[in-house]
Amino acid sequence: MAIKEKIVKRIKKIAKERMEEINDPVHSWDHIKKVVKYSKELLKKYPQADQFVVLMSAYLHDIGEIEKKKHNVKGADISKEILQKLNLDKQTIIKVQHVIKEHSVEGKPKIIEGKIIRDADHLDWINTKRLKAVLSKLTEEEIEKEVKPYFLKLRDLLDLPESKVMFDELYKKHKKRYERLAPHLIK
Ligand SMILES: [Fe+2]
Ligand SMILES: [Fe+2]
Repeated sequence: MAIKEKIVKRIKKIAKERMEEINDPVHSWDHIKKVVKYSKELLKKYPQADQFVVLMSAYLHDIGEIEKKKHNVKGADISKEILQKLNLDKQTIIKVQHVIKEHSVEGKPKIIEGKIIRDADHLDWINTKRLKAVLSKLTEEEIEKEVKPYFLKLRDLLDLPESKVMFDELYKKHKKRYERLAPHLIK
């Protein structure tokens, strides 16, 4: 097995253990697997992106979720430690840190790898299981104020044209379930 493949496998194991420990339905291991899946699909459309950086970031992006606020910053710090222990080169570590730090709604990733991760992360909001988990935790007022504005612009938040294509396909596929669950959150 190639060395990079081995490292990704190690990181997958670390991330799985950690996400299961965090045990948050919104940032579950299931969510991470979906982000990996969407990232792989986007990698096919953007072959210029560094696959190694994308895969490591996909597994690690929500690892800072223990600290609810600024989980992106915390996640970038934890990832740095993990990657240093695995003896990765400085340049790669800096890239992964940037990608993780910029994956949030307000994030502005400067590199294609970051755009892929941020878009793949947003795409998983079409996942009704995840949406359901978030809705059950919030009051109606919070949903109206915090979730609705975000959901109405979900498609516009996506950076890459191919992510919008994926969004439309996913939305079409899950439309009925999505509408039944949250008709007030969609256009
Ligand atoms: Fe996140
Ligand atoms: Fe995420």
